[in-house]
Amino acid sequence: MHEGDEITTIEGLGQPGNLHPMQAAFVACDGYQCGYCTSGQIMSAVALLNEPCGPSNAEVKELMSGNICRCGAYSNIVAAIQSVRQEKLSESSSVVRPNRTKADK
Ligand code: FES
Repeated sequence: MHEGDEITTIEGLGQPGNLHPMQAAFVACDGYQCGYCTSGQIMSAVALLNEPCGPSNAEVKELMSGNICRCGAYSNIVAAIQSVRQEKLSESSSVVRPNRTKADK
């Protein structure tokens, strides 16, 4: 059914010292506790960036509703996702952003 499709896993997103912005946001926002659900949460959150989603936390929660976190880290997960969405939005609306490198993200 998906023969030949490219598959990205959490290990393919980033590496220690060069995290994907969503991985870094989960760390910065404490978007996990035990870490059991974290890989799936982050992969879904990255996919969410390419989906039509309104700006509210409720809309983010709805798109992430298939991911269960038994630790209840939901509010911090949403905060992490929203921080990356805001960053992406500010990057797309600015013409020139001097003094920023990919490592700053
Ligand atoms: S962080 Fe423990 S299940 Fe989500």
